[in-house]
Amino acid sequence: MPNIIIPLPMKKTICIFLIAFTFLSCTEKKEKEKLPDPEIPYSINVPVGFPTMDIPSDNPVTKEKIELGKMLFFDPILSLDSTISCSSCHLQAKSFADPRKLSVGVNDCTGVRNAPPLFNLAYQSFFFRDGGVFSMEQQVLSPIENPIEMNLDPNIAVKRLNRNQKYINLFQKAFKRNPDLFSLTRAIASFERTLLSGNSKYDQYAFQNNKEILSSSELKGMNIFFNEGQCSNCHSGFNFTNNLFENNGIYEKYFDMGRFRITTHFKDVGKFKVPSLRNIELTAPYMHDGSMNTLEEVIEHYNNGGKNHVNQSKNVMQLNLSETQKSDLIAFLKTLTDKEFINNSAFKKH
Ligand code: HEC
Ligand code: HEC
Repeated sequence: MPNIIIPLPMKKTICIFLIAFTFLSCTEKKEKEKLPDPEIPYSINVPVGFPTMDIPSDNPVTKEKIELGKMLFFDPILSLDSTISCSSCHLQAKSFADPRKLSVGVNDCTGVRNAPPLFNLAYQSFFFRDGGVFSMEQQVLSPIENPIEMNLDPNIAVKRLNRNQKYINLFQKAFKRNPDLFSLTRAIASFERTLLSGNSKYDQYAFQNNKEILSSSELKGMNIFFNEGQCSNCHSGFNFTNNLFENNGIYEKYFDMGRFRITTHFKDVGKFKVPSLRNIELTAPYMHDGSMNTLEEVIEHYNNGGKNHVNQSKNVMQLNLSETQKSDLIAFLKTLTDKEFINNSAFKKH
């Protein structure tokens, strides 16, 4: 059990109440609005070895949208008391993850899930750890209106932006219209699409033909990852995820039931989206609830073969790795760190 049902003061009780409420109400917003005028397209440079990126036809990427989206990402104007921005929980130095076990929103409300890193989002078909949201544009509204995150009615957010001449000008430049839900979601989604990470040591080895770059320990670790460790049964492909929901056996009994929340099928209890392992060195703590603090702890978990929940995947099994093999595997995981990404000035606040 994650240790979040500790005795709580009143304020925290309210948070829990709100959490229960948001768990029940999976928001699905439909927006039907007319398309903006033709825009000058901007082509996002996809890293070597990555497939082409699907961009929705109602939101072609432009420089103006990316700039505006970035400004909004860093602006606490989108939270109830103007204290929290997207970047409060998604830190570039941490590959846009949150180093805290659980994120803290307005009024010191603590959530129930660890904030995942943000990169290569354009290649995801589902958002959030249970895959409850299907499009990046739709995803943007969730943290804004979530009572335990930014807790602001998006319509009020739009009203605020319409009282701000700087934003009116920027929205006019990007969308030829004043701030509204259509343009707000599309601006932030455009910025999110530019968050591409694909220049780790591993990428240089695998896709840029730099065969000398990995040490012998890293190469041995890579072999364990793709072969006897069975890791690539789930963490597969260029983004180290099969984009499915799996139960990797971290609990006998799950407090957060994961994918079950969305489907209500018992076979989905304890299943979570298989996360990418890129930049994994930077995104501790690990798992949906931030319950593991180090990569050593994660490897120990897999080596022991999991807690045997009824839904645990057959691909999680006892591995009997030696101490050297465990450290080789960790050395390999650290080759997935992309320093260029976390230092990229294009993603920094102005
Ligand atoms: C209070 C902390 C907090 C704030 C503020 C916040 N997030 Fe998050 N974010 C989270 C948490 C926690 C999750 C995981 C939620 C889940 O899986 O149910 C998440 C998940 C996401 C995801 C899904 C990633 C994936 O791989 O599925 C995206 C994208 C995202 N946030 C973008 C944003 C944007 C854009 C903003 C600002 C509008 C924002 N977040 C504000 C904590 C936060
Ligand atoms: C059955 C599929 C499966 C297999 C096999 C598997 N994983 Fe995972 N892995 C997952 C899932 C699902 C999660 C996320 C669980 C959660 O959110 O609670 C995860 C999480 C992780 C995390 C934490 C990621 C994060 O951002 O919190 C690491 C690190 C990791 N796995 C490494 C490995 C390694 C190394 C192996 C091989 C020894 C491996 N995995 C094998 C499915 C799998």
